[in-house]
Amino acid sequence: MTSSPLSPYLRDFERLADLETSVHSLLSSHGQEATFHHVKAVAQKAAELAERFSGNVEEVSAAAWLHDISAIIPNRERIAVAQGLRLEVLPEEADFPMIIHQKLSAALAEEAFGVTSQAVLSAISCHTTLKANASKSDHIVFVADKIAWDQAGTPPYLPDLLVALEASIEAASLVYLDYLWEMRARLKVLHPWAKAAREALRADVSKLQTDKSLRF
Ligand SMILES: [Fe+2]
Ligand SMILES: [Fe+2]
Repeated sequence: MTSSPLSPYLRDFERLADLETSVHSLLSSHGQEATFHHVKAVAQKAAELAERFSGNVEEVSAAAWLHDISAIIPNRERIAVAQGLRLEVLPEEADFPMIIHQKLSAALAEEAFGVTSQAVLSAISCHTTLKANASKSDHIVFVADKIAWDQAGTPPYLPDLLVALEASIEAASLVYLDYLWEMRARLKVLHPWAKAAREALRADVSKLQTDKSLRF
């Protein structure tokens, strides 16, 4: 039997038919009960956003349940595991390993949960930063994770994000990316995917404004 860099974290794990039960069993066996409550809230929010914005409920629900499963890998071990999996490790991720957890969750979703849908894997692997040319499911999981955030209190960007949601899911993503951009001096790193996603969305916004001015 071949051994994967993820095997040490999957000892005793048995995948069950029900995704929620399986995620709960994996996270709780690693003392990550709080993460389970967070992913449950994100899954509910993602399904709600998919209904609202004509997205794919099944796709975003699966991605939301699985998006933080790499919480079972301690932060200090994440870069070595990513290298073992031959994942691309960007300099920003090497500096601040927390942000590689999105790629590790996608790898675990494939290996431990048998996920083969590229759409689901994509939404998991960019849920923290988004990326340029994101799909609707990528946007939905990203925004759901920011609404049901995993820290105490109310997110400072939430009121603006909820107003933007009245316009579109992409506008809501842009509110959070703008917030990161404003905060960039205080952040440990600004991930290049977040920067690229913001630039792409801002270009779309100005294109829409140009189209409007041409039309009227
Ligand atoms: Fe996350
Ligand atoms: Fe999360």
